[in-house]
Amino acid sequence: MHHFFLSFLILTGASETGAGDNPKEVFEKRILPIFKSPNPSSCTECHLANLDIKNYILSTSEKTFLSMRDQGLVNTKEPEKSRILKFISMKDPSSKPNMILAKTRDEELRAFSEWIKACCKDEALIKMPKLTQEELGHPEKPIEVVRHARKDRLLESFEQNIWAMRFRCMNCHTSGHPDSVKLQKEHGDRVTWFKKTPAETMDYILSKTKLIDLENPEKSLLLLKPLNEVKHGGGKKFIIGDLGYQSFRNWIEDYARIKGGTYKTATDLPKQSNNQTQFATEIWFKINNTPADWGDKLLLTTFYMWDEKLGNWEKDPIAVSDRLVWGKGKAWQHTITVMAPKGSEREASWKKSGPSLAPGKYKVVVQVDKEGVLAKAWNATLDEKTTIVGTGEFNANWKPGNGAMTAIDAANIKRQ
Ligand code: HEC
Ligand code: HEC
Repeated sequence: MHHFFLSFLILTGASETGAGDNPKEVFEKRILPIFKSPNPSSCTECHLANLDIKNYILSTSEKTFLSMRDQGLVNTKEPEKSRILKFISMKDPSSKPNMILAKTRDEELRAFSEWIKACCKDEALIKMPKLTQEELGHPEKPIEVVRHARKDRLLESFEQNIWAMRFRCMNCHTSGHPDSVKLQKEHGDRVTWFKKTPAETMDYILSKTKLIDLENPEKSLLLLKPLNEVKHGGGKKFIIGDLGYQSFRNWIEDYARIKGGTYKTATDLPKQSNNQTQFATEIWFKINNTPADWGDKLLLTTFYMWDEKLGNWEKDPIAVSDRLVWGKGKAWQHTITVMAPKGSEREASWKKSGPSLAPGKYKVVVQVDKEGVLAKAWNATLDEKTTIVGTGEFNANWKPGNGAMTAIDAANIKRQ
């Protein structure tokens, strides 16, 4: 193909700068080099896997054009408004400027603009019959799998699974926080990996660190450090199967599968776990005088808010937490993660001004993993019947901070 093109060029004397109005010439001169290039296309800034502009380029100019036309990617009346050109122009505003990517994008945009314009002047080409479904050029994987591998989706999941759990790491890793300054001096900038926003944090972890092991996700330092399986300056902050571990692990496993191309069909994708959005808080909850048989077991708390209008508890939980009971100290305490139904007013207001819990009447459901089920299978769910030990009601004003903990006595948790 390439040789043919060269001799053709000499014979016709086509200019260096542009192959003019002949779609085939433009295709061979501008589009095929993109197809043959070993470099990833600009699409990969956001489509982390499964999609590349090469997927849309077929063996000939004619086939490629018809395939794009049939998929609504070109606008034959107003070529400059073609959807494919919009896709090429899309930029991720949260990414750092990248010269190589900018150059690639610019080349793609000029090549496709020129070629589409040339094609759209060819009346006969525009009117050619539709290709069959099999002839179309597009990503191999089903559209759901393509969508799942988008960076904006990965970021949404990062916010839910990692950002919403960040206060489990207190502020030791929070860039700019006084608690991290001393640690940063001792251990270097690597300590402050929680940046200002979820997007910056995710970008930092993915592009500047080796905290994630794509081959063996469970061996990622992002898990082994807080487990203290690799010696950790912050000690043991996760135990296998707790909410923090589960969330981090789920996100890491998903990312590794996306990058590894493991997802083949929509049914392989992770299930949406619930329809609630989670938010991290520095609100603490404490249970005093825990009984001996809870000692050093993983204890889960699920909180419900009293609804005056309903005269009942709200249907959805408003907060959760979990941690090992401190057997010797006969106490359990931790920060809570709050949640609001997706699309609710509560979610909107928390997104705007940060999460907070209204003072009032609350209920806590307490579960204890007596058999250590979660430690044996990190993503197991506890059997509600066998693990609920009781429920307690209390009034709280939920002031944030370790010094303003809301506390109840274990004696106020009514056994079931
Ligand atoms: C800045 C990030 C970004 C870049 C770069 C990007 N896309 Fe996308 N793409 C998205 C987002 C977000 C969506 C979903 C919303 C939409 O359809 O506009 C999407 C959707 C799509 C869809 C629709 C698939 C569906 O869900 O039905 C196609 C096809 C597509 N992109 C192709 C491309 C191609 C080809 C490129 C490169 C030339 C590209 N994209 C570059 C972010 C991006
Ligand atoms: C009391 C402070 C403290 C807390 C809380 C803490 N850490 Fe750390 N962490 C450190 C210190 C100090 C280091 C640097 C020394 C080292 O590598 O262990 C570190 C290192 C790390 C590293 C390695 C960073 C790198 O790039 O080398 C990871 C990953 C990490 N911690 C994860 C976590 C997670 C996840 C949590 C919360 C679930 C957490 N840590 C809670 C103090 C803390």
